[in-house]
Amino acid sequence: MPASNDSNPKLYMANRGNFSGRIGFILTAAGSAVGLGNIWKFPYLAGQNGGAVFLFIYLFCIFVLCYPVMVGEISIGRNAGLDAYGSYSKLGGKRWGYLGLFGILTGIFILSFYNVVAGWAFGYFLHISFGDLLLEKDFGAFFNLFVNDIFDLTSPEGFANSNFLFSIVFMAMTAFIVARGIQKGIEAANKIMMPILYLILICIIVYSLTLPNAMSGVRFYLIPDINELKIQTVFEGLKQAFFSLSLGMGTLMTYGSYLKKNENIPSSVAVISLADTSVAFLAGLMVFPLVHFLQFKLQVTEVATAGPPLIFIVLPQIFHEMGPLLGRLVGGLFFLLVCFAALTSTISLLEVPVAYLVDQKKLSRRNVSWATALLIFVLGLPVMVSQGMVPALNKLAFYKGQDYLVFIADMCDISLTVGGCLMCIFITRRWKIKNMHEELEQGNPGYKNSFLKKYLTYAIQYVCPVLLGILSILIIIDKFVGIGEIF
Ligand code: PHE
Repeated sequence: MPASNDSNPKLYMANRGNFSGRIGFILTAAGSAVGLGNIWKFPYLAGQNGGAVFLFIYLFCIFVLCYPVMVGEISIGRNAGLDAYGSYSKLGGKRWGYLGLFGILTGIFILSFYNVVAGWAFGYFLHISFGDLLLEKDFGAFFNLFVNDIFDLTSPEGFANSNFLFSIVFMAMTAFIVARGIQKGIEAANKIMMPILYLILICIIVYSLTLPNAMSGVRFYLIPDINELKIQTVFEGLKQAFFSLSLGMGTLMTYGSYLKKNENIPSSVAVISLADTSVAFLAGLMVFPLVHFLQFKLQVTEVATAGPPLIFIVLPQIFHEMGPLLGRLVGGLFFLLVCFAALTSTISLLEVPVAYLVDQKKLSRRNVSWATALLIFVLGLPVMVSQGMVPALNKLAFYKGQDYLVFIADMCDISLTVGGCLMCIFITRRWKIKNMHEELEQGNPGYKNSFLKKYLTYAIQYVCPVLLGILSILIIIDKFVGIGEIF
């Protein structure tokens, strides 16, 4: 960055890059939102928490709690025109800047484990499409071997299976895209991947609905079971909604900083939320008919649908049942879909620290993208070995014997809701709600006297911080003590 840019803010801003327009921004932000959270986590959470009951709570969280937070987050970013740290400190002083740093750190930790799981999906994509994975007999045993096959680069087989390699390639793809900048890298990649993602999703749903016993899966997914309604269902819904919308850590603040002033934030946010929710909903509609098809084939009443086993053990088994050709096609497409969803999210996660280093330290985007990606990859190594290789990380004594991947993912979930709550307090107490409204009026002349304005005022000042604060505390208690022990 030439020195003259520093003293000329206009020129400096222009050099940060921006989205070409509304479609580019919406697809990119939706790309961040749509990820492993939608395709892998949402269906099994819904399945475990009473299907439609969970869906209902989730929708409530999205539109009542997350919508205002997302509008707030993007308007802070666009108003300040800087990274998460820069935005908070520009509008609120250095102390608030720490909230931005907290978000950046959260993003780094999310990416550290997210990339490992994305690497698994990438490995499965290659193995199903071009290898013999579907010939396996025991997919559970295969998964265990697979996630623990990390450093064996000595034989061609070890090389082809190495998670280390899958994960580093995935991170390299992320770095490559981020290094190319906003329009040519991030926006361009999302504009290609997101429409393909929708297309694949629809194709697999149509196919899965034609399978035997598919309707039993649809019923299980969509018919509410009120008995499943517990306080934990509300937590799960809220955590999932925050994670799924990429809220509370500065991703959307950073993306918002590249948004032009004439863009309408509230309506873009509505489209982004809908896009994300629809993919989560559709993912359930894709997965449950498949799972019930398997139950029918194996003549069993239940197959595991919780956590990693769902997509890495149960689904491959289903693709296996489809026969060699169809299985390879549908399975390959499914994992391609997961890879696209994950990549559009890893890009947004890497962009958060990269924007910070570019804006604050005036470093070159290209170098910083590669260096940060490498660092985060190294941070992910404990996640990789936590699946059995290192027993201490596989069963954390202080965390109810859960593994390090679960621990780090849970801590990040908590940081997001806490970050969202503090952001509402920031807008209310420091930046002031009238400044947010002024920002929102730009690109949206009708906003001034709208109902939405009243709603957002009320939501950001009272409803969101109070509910997010209470729920965050309850989630923390639940994670470390267990809510059942207290109530
Ligand atoms: N929203 C992404 C998903 O659902 C994950 C993510 C979280 C991305 C936070 C960016 C920031 O998978």
